[in-house]
Amino acid sequence: MSIVTLKDLISRADEQGKAVGAFSVGNMEMILGAIRAAEEMNTPIIIQIAEVRLPTSPLAIIGPMMVAAAENSSVDVCVHLDHGLNYETVEEALELGFSSVMLDGSLLDYEENVKLTQRVVDIAREYGASVEAELGVVGGNEGGGKAHTIQCTDPTVADDFCKRTGIDAMAVAIGNAHGHYKAAPELKLDVLKEIDASCDTPLVLHGGTGITPETFQECIRNGIRKVNIATASFDAVVKAASQNTADGGNYFALSQKMADEVYENVKKHIKIFNMENLK
Ligand code: 13P
Repeated sequence: MSIVTLKDLISRADEQGKAVGAFSVGNMEMILGAIRAAEEMNTPIIIQIAEVRLPTSPLAIIGPMMVAAAENSSVDVCVHLDHGLNYETVEEALELGFSSVMLDGSLLDYEENVKLTQRVVDIAREYGASVEAELGVVGGNEGGGKAHTIQCTDPTVADDFCKRTGIDAMAVAIGNAHGHYKAAPELKLDVLKEIDASCDTPLVLHGGTGITPETFQECIRNGIRKVNIATASFDAVVKAASQNTADGGNYFALSQKMADEVYENVKKHIKIFNMENLK
């Protein structure tokens, strides 16, 4: 199969009333585990890496690996830059063959966010790639800097933002946050419904780790077409490493176990996002 754009995968998910899973990766084992799950489920996925993860997984090294894994997969895969913070990083990802990029201008003021996002849409179009942007502020610190307090997306400006920027998907802030939730998250479905009713652009849910299967499916019924999962997959790798250490430590067993644990996590989420019956 081949590398496909976010726009393509989202429009297929939309026709089927499902969401596409977007799984963060940080090393080869995470990439292999995620793709194996997608192939087994015969479901396209998104593999992604956020700019804040690049100090430990440099884009020039992991990017080509992500692209190669997508090209060699038996299902369609979108290779996405998650939370791009700088225009230059977006440019580098596009040059490496990423089929989608996110520009996270959520901490900028509204007009600055619009302006920078427009610039990213312009260059992404030259590469035939899709663009995701964020309106409002998702909690946690995937978007760089210190952990942010959540600022809900304002439904009254969502349509203006999407139309003026021309983005293919919009990340919403509805009480969701990156990382581990301190208490079970209570997502504002009323705000999600208002955003969904006010604009035609497909919506993205960040901060997937810790959200219940029921809530995921409720969000999907209300316009979410892409769901991001990062922490749960990173935790899966840590679990593999701890078990391996407890078992005496063997590199090759560790490498296999890391991929296996990520595969289990990704597969579990694909089933939910495919709207499989939870009973
Ligand atoms: P989690 O780390 O909560 O799974 O969030 C993932 C995410 O939204 C990445 O952008």
